[in-house]
Amino acid sequence: MQPLISSKLPDVGTTIFTVMSQLALDCNAINLSQGFPSFEPPDDLLSLIEHYLRSGANQYAPMPGVPALRAAIAAKVADLYGRSADVDTEITVCDGATEGLFSSIQAIVRPGDDVIVFDPAYDSYAPAITLAGGRTVHIPLISPGDGFDFHIDWQRLADAVSDKTRLIVLNFPQNPIGSILAAADLDSLAEIVRDTRILLLSDEVYEHIVFDGARHQSMLMHDELWQRSLVISSFGKTYHATGWKVGYCVAPAPLTEEFRKVHQFTCFSVVTPIQHALADFMTSTPQQHLQLAAFYQAKRDYFCNLLTESRFEFEPAKGTFFQILDYSAISDEEDVSYARRLTREIGVASIPISVFCEEPLPGNKLRFCFAKDDATLATAVEKLCQL
Ligand SMILES: Cc1ncc(COP(=O)(O)O)c(C=O)c1O
Repeated sequence: MQPLISSKLPDVGTTIFTVMSQLALDCNAINLSQGFPSFEPPDDLLSLIEHYLRSGANQYAPMPGVPALRAAIAAKVADLYGRSADVDTEITVCDGATEGLFSSIQAIVRPGDDVIVFDPAYDSYAPAITLAGGRTVHIPLISPGDGFDFHIDWQRLADAVSDKTRLIVLNFPQNPIGSILAAADLDSLAEIVRDTRILLLSDEVYEHIVFDGARHQSMLMHDELWQRSLVISSFGKTYHATGWKVGYCVAPAPLTEEFRKVHQFTCFSVVTPIQHALADFMTSTPQQHLQLAAFYQAKRDYFCNLLTESRFEFEPAKGTFFQILDYSAISDEEDVSYARRLTREIGVASIPISVFCEEPLPGNKLRFCFAKDDATLATAVEKLCQL
């Protein structure tokens, strides 16, 4: 008899990030598709990793994370968001945000549950929901004004919530759109979930990348929302180190207990020397992440200023290191084939937005990563201005 291979994710192919990065490589194009910086992590942090690699920190870390790193995360969360999270029972170091999101969803969602996501939604949520036996309910973000400033449609969310809704997944600052939450949004969300048993999974990996003086609105800031939230972040975005895959989950003790039941059998623990190094670095340089917003705002402004010479339409991103460009004035080709064409013919790779959406967004939009050195951005824009 033939062995049975019956896909649990029949509709899932290779992620668009891998596809576009490979195409960029094949075409020798500038890769502004996948979200990784072209900068190195802070030198002191690299030295600390070398130190711990050479001083015996090479065996399994404790399952919830190295205590010193959990303490440093607790200090940061208290400082930034006024939340006092218990080091032992409310903070878990995970294998990048991806594992934190996956383990959260497996810990919470059961067959028959609905999970609400907002489109365009980061592509790891829906497969994790499917594997847990849940159903992904897509609600599009809306942009009532200029087609760039995307928000949650609170009425649509309120209408979508039912007895089956188990979890709402939020991601602000938002990848790919670059929008952020306002303080009032947290209250609107609280009003909708107040008389329900719904939990919240908040993907806040871009928490430090918010522009123009705005403040990141974390679920950790809101007493009511915190009670029902798992908040996920990633050191990859904060320290220019996406390849390390180290993140964390902050959640009230009863939720953390469930989270850890899955985490311990997903990866058990996370790379030991890097955890020790991060703990020391965060303790000795606690304000490092505060420089990130200004750093990326300068990148965004540089990229956007150059782009004013192009035929793309855009509004500068409010957060993240992604800029949405609308090419409606240049072409009406659908975005997946247009992104491929730009990579092949112009030599700049981007990410088409439609792959993150159940229903198309207004306009024709591509996402470009501006976490690159100025020379790369300038060459990319020079090419885009040929269009
Ligand atoms: C919105 C969002 N969530 C999660 C992740 C994954 O983070 P990590 O690399 O720490 O797993 C990313 C990475 O690009 C992201 O953009």
